[in-house]
Amino acid sequence: MSGHVLYKLPELSYDFSALEPVISAEIMQLHYSKHHNAYVTNLNVALEKYYDAESKGDIASMIGLQQAIRFNGGGHVNHSIFWTNLAPTSHGGGGAPSGDLLAAITKEFGSVESFIEKFSALTVAVQGSGWGWLGWNQSSKRLVMTSCNNQDPLSTQGLVPLLGIDVWEHAYYLQYKNVRAEYVKNIWNIVSWKNVEQRFKDAQS
Ligand SMILES: [Fe+2]
Repeated sequence: MSGHVLYKLPELSYDFSALEPVISAEIMQLHYSKHHNAYVTNLNVALEKYYDAESKGDIASMIGLQQAIRFNGGGHVNHSIFWTNLAPTSHGGGGAPSGDLLAAITKEFGSVESFIEKFSALTVAVQGSGWGWLGWNQSSKRLVMTSCNNQDPLSTQGLVPLLGIDVWEHAYYLQYKNVRAEYVKNIWNIVSWKNVEQRFKDAQS
């Protein structure tokens, strides 16, 4: 053991069935307990190997582990944000942004409706596995919508993540089959704008 801190699967603040009918309990259970859990497990395995290689001054092995750390670490970071970006409709899911976030979205994208339309189109169009993101650019002080491939975290684009939509097939296929657009359309009914607003506020300070 290296004595380094390892990562843990974060607690979910709602039951697997709480996001129904938008996301089925079966998808939630597999997505969280299998997929996210595997990213955490594999991240820790890669990190243990990395620390071991580091202690031996084995730079070739350290470089060789970087892709596994990026992929599994990104998967852990992304899903940890995703679960909190969502909420059951009985606990604030859906609705609309308010306050400073509403003002920033309106300034950048014209209106909330226009933002949702553009963001949905961008996210549906992700080729293969990836994520749609609303992020904050600290230097230009502007909201940015973009996508990331695979499990690359939004920080690889120099942005602070505010809202992410997972469009890997594991996120929707059991329920929506190949119709990713329907999944993305429905997910707005469970977006926790309160969480996005808090992330926006934290990004300012
Ligand atoms: Fe996922």
